[in-house]
Amino acid sequence: MKSYYILECSEQQRIADFLYGYYVGITARHPPTKFWNHLRREEITNLMAMPNNPCRRWFDSMGLRVRDVSFTVFNEKICTHTHRDEPPVIAKINFPVLNTRDTFNVWFDEYAQEIDRVECVKPIVLRSDILHTVEIGNTAHFPRLQFSFCFYNEPLRLLK
Ligand SMILES: [Fe+2]
Repeated sequence: MKSYYILECSEQQRIADFLYGYYVGITARHPPTKFWNHLRREEITNLMAMPNNPCRRWFDSMGLRVRDVSFTVFNEKICTHTHRDEPPVIAKINFPVLNTRDTFNVWFDEYAQEIDRVECVKPIVLRSDILHTVEIGNTAHFPRLQFSFCFYNEPLRLLK
């Protein structure tokens, strides 16, 4: 099974701008303090119901039904470490939103040997049930923001 699969998305900038606008709105009063930030059920419903939501249109075009939405923040104070995501989801989609150039998703085998890495500049299907982390290069800017989606019908076929 592959660690990741790069998704070509003709609306990538538009979706990133949309998600960034959403992020600014929901964090204006409560700046994020941790790497992982889960949207509540009600927030997910509202986000997906927004008119002209280019993100939902893109998932619709792939036949994917969104189950959970999170965003991850990496800055001078917040980072992440090597981990496995919570089961049962295996195939998530990560969407780069802000300052993801020179930042990388990296995967490891059970002996902590690196097996894969990809710069976070395009949306990817990623395998989240094996050890992985985010690495930050010397030229990266903060805050780094990605959105992460999981689905009722996860796109496992793209990792085959
Ligand atoms: Fe993760």
